[in-house]
Amino acid sequence: MPSLLIKNAKLFDPSAGLDMSGHIAVKDGIIRYLGGDEGTAALAAGPDAVVFDARGRMATPGLIDMHVHLRDPGNDAVETIASGAMAAVAGGFTSVVCMPNTEPPVDDEASVIFQQREARRVGFANVFPVGAITAGRKGGELAEMSQMASAGAVAFSDDGDAVPTAGLLRRALTYAKMLNRPILEHCEDESLKGEGVMDEGFMSTMLGLKGIPDECEEVIVARDVAMSRLTGAHVHIQHVSTANSVEIIRNAKLEGSRVTAEATPHHLTLTCDVVKGYDPVFKVNPPLRSEQDIVALRKGLKDGAIDAIASDHAPHLEEAKELEFAQAPSGMIGLETALGVVATKLIDEDDFTWEDLIPLLTSKPSDILGLGRGRLKVGLPGDVTIIDPDLVWTVDCERFYSKSRNCPFNGWKLKGRAVATIVSGKIMFDLEGGIDPC
Ligand code: DOR
Repeated sequence: MPSLLIKNAKLFDPSAGLDMSGHIAVKDGIIRYLGGDEGTAALAAGPDAVVFDARGRMATPGLIDMHVHLRDPGNDAVETIASGAMAAVAGGFTSVVCMPNTEPPVDDEASVIFQQREARRVGFANVFPVGAITAGRKGGELAEMSQMASAGAVAFSDDGDAVPTAGLLRRALTYAKMLNRPILEHCEDESLKGEGVMDEGFMSTMLGLKGIPDECEEVIVARDVAMSRLTGAHVHIQHVSTANSVEIIRNAKLEGSRVTAEATPHHLTLTCDVVKGYDPVFKVNPPLRSEQDIVALRKGLKDGAIDAIASDHAPHLEEAKELEFAQAPSGMIGLETALGVVATKLIDEDDFTWEDLIPLLTSKPSDILGLGRGRLKVGLPGDVTIIDPDLVWTVDCERFYSKSRNCPFNGWKLKGRAVATIVSGKIMFDLEGGIDPC
């Protein structure tokens, strides 16, 4: 197990009330010391420790992306656990939580064990599997939730689809509560979505594309809040896209319901107007919405209605994304741009601070999923992200570690980037030191 001494960092963890110059010692994968005394840090790390000089930049808890698609098993031309985990550390994420809409879906104990074993074998980032709610993600019978939980599934989701009926969701929530796991819900009502491919409104009419109304999401969010109230179980709303959804979630929290929610960098920054060139790179579910929705999502992040930021990294084959808009698959990649996009758009160009942002990417997702990480604290795993908040860089998706290129932010000039990513005390990515995960 590696030992590491991180010197001269700005130790920054708002959830732990930490903001000071100092050093971190990691030994046997665990944080042994953090504080201002370099001598004590060196002693705690031991004589054989690798030394990393952070040169005054921020050392934050390792970032956690609670919503990614790694396409493994089944689609290794698009992504694998290895390529996805490399993309994760290149984007500053030490942990990713992967959705079960693989081929076959992760709906039993064996698949959960496979993903964990493969993640350990490749070793770049921590990978936490999510099990399907229903067998085969077909929306019929419940999957083997208890066995998957015992094998290590941290939550359940049929992401890509909502659980089709309130009755089935009630049963799933009852089991999930017994297993002490949240249900992560993709909120879109199939009967309202129909053949919709983008936000329903002026732009969809102009473009002659079938629309998806806001209510398609909101009826499921409202239903799920009601089912959480009925069962007392924890529902987490994935990739919130509309202002009314934010309001429903805010009110549910005020009533004391066990509801949490996430927003994606793309829903926080892009409106449906980008679809006007018919480029399928902007096709995503739920669809990109309006400026007012973006404002409401950002307000939700500020006041706690929305708990976390997650990329919904959804790789697709280039050929598939070259189909015409209505035929192309939905989804965009985000692991390697998430931090830079939200830092630029929310901090540099809006009134967020790093103090607002870091918990949304660390302690909050950890707490939602019970991962026991996401903080800089002695005794926790040595997962640390070194961030240069002033680094200006340009997104070039040809240089991505992800196997896919469906990035809506390609060519964007961003400010703020992870310059090193440390997992259990091992430097997995170091932009300047030439350590890359390959
Ligand atoms: O656009 C999307 N693509 N939304 C999802 O929820 C699933 C994802 C995928 O798996 O491609």
